Amino acid sequence: MASSTTHRYALILGVSSGIGRASALSLARDGFNIIGVHLDRAAGLEAARALQAELQSHGVEAHFFNVNAADADRRAEVIEAIRNIFAGREGAQISFMLHSLAFGSLLPLIPGVEGERTATQKQINMTLDVMANSLVYWTQDVLAAGLFGRGARIVAMSSNGASRVLPTYGIVSAAKAALESYIRQLALELAPHGITANTLRAGVTVTPALEKIPGNQVIQSHAEMRNPHHRLTTPEDVAAMIALLAAEGSYWVNGACIIVDGGEDAVDLTWYGREDLMS
Ligand SMILES: NC(=O)c1ccc[n+]([C@@H]2O[C@H](COP(=O)([O-])OP(=O)(O)OC[C@H]3O[C@@H](n4cnc5c(N)ncnc54)[C@H](O)[C@@H]3O)[C@@H](O)[C@H]2O)c1
Repeated sequence: MASSTTHRYALILGVSSGIGRASALSLARDGFNIIGVHLDRAAGLEAARALQAELQSHGVEAHFFNVNAADADRRAEVIEAIRNIFAGREGAQISFMLHSLAFGSLLPLIPGVEGERTATQKQINMTLDVMANSLVYWTQDVLAAGLFGRGARIVAMSSNGASRVLPTYGIVSAAKAALESYIRQLALELAPHGITANTLRAGVTVTPALEKIPGNQVIQSHAEMRNPHHRLTTPEDVAAMIALLAAEGSYWVNGACIIVDGGEDAVDLTWYGREDLMS
């Protein structure tokens, strides 16, 4: 069991589910205290409380905040609360920050022949704010508050949707492209602070966010067929990579976009529908 006296904290934006949840468990097993931000109600909130208790059972602290991570006032409150947690704990610092927020509009940009509803300006702004811009604001404010330790690592979750087209994924796709671009820029600008920034592109992973994408069953079955391992990525597959990036030896990985999908993205689309070739 990890020591409860560790002063390394991981700030996880999107802690309560999917990749954020699996990463919190993996980092807690490695001795990180967890500061988690999530947005849940009802059953989701109960699951978040159960996760918090599970993290604490690993002998680390778990502080959760059920707030909108894209709201500037809530962000300021959480950062103030982190300052208070760190007060009197000499050497307490955020050594790892994960951006794993999934919340966006899955609407087309242009109406089809049946005149489908398209995304509004407000929905586009909200999606970009939660899934991309919030990375910059959290990074700026955590840094300004002096809470990042030297050698801290920032990781943001992306997908191959950052450079591929999928119906109704246009706004999230734009957010992913922005997120990857922000990470490259942060990698440059944070180097003087000894902080690295990298993106992970996860393969298709069954989570509540995936299940909200229209046609996700087709996405899942194609990914399963296309993946050299003929299975989908799990949150634990991604969390294992996150643990590597949080470990000391990864300090020279910076500004990278790392694909964590078992080889799914590398397989050419020609294989689609040709199970007979996949013996
Ligand atoms: N699931 C996949 O197939 C897949 C693949 C590649 C990349 N990703 C990316 O990984 C990240 C995590 O996705 P997931 O599939 O684990 O999603 P998920 O739905 O399981 O979890 C999303 C988390 O974000 C939190 N959240 C959402 N909006 C919030 C807000 N405004 N403020 C605070 N918390 C908020 C939720 O409470 C939850 O903890 C996303 O960026 C997603 O695009 C997912």
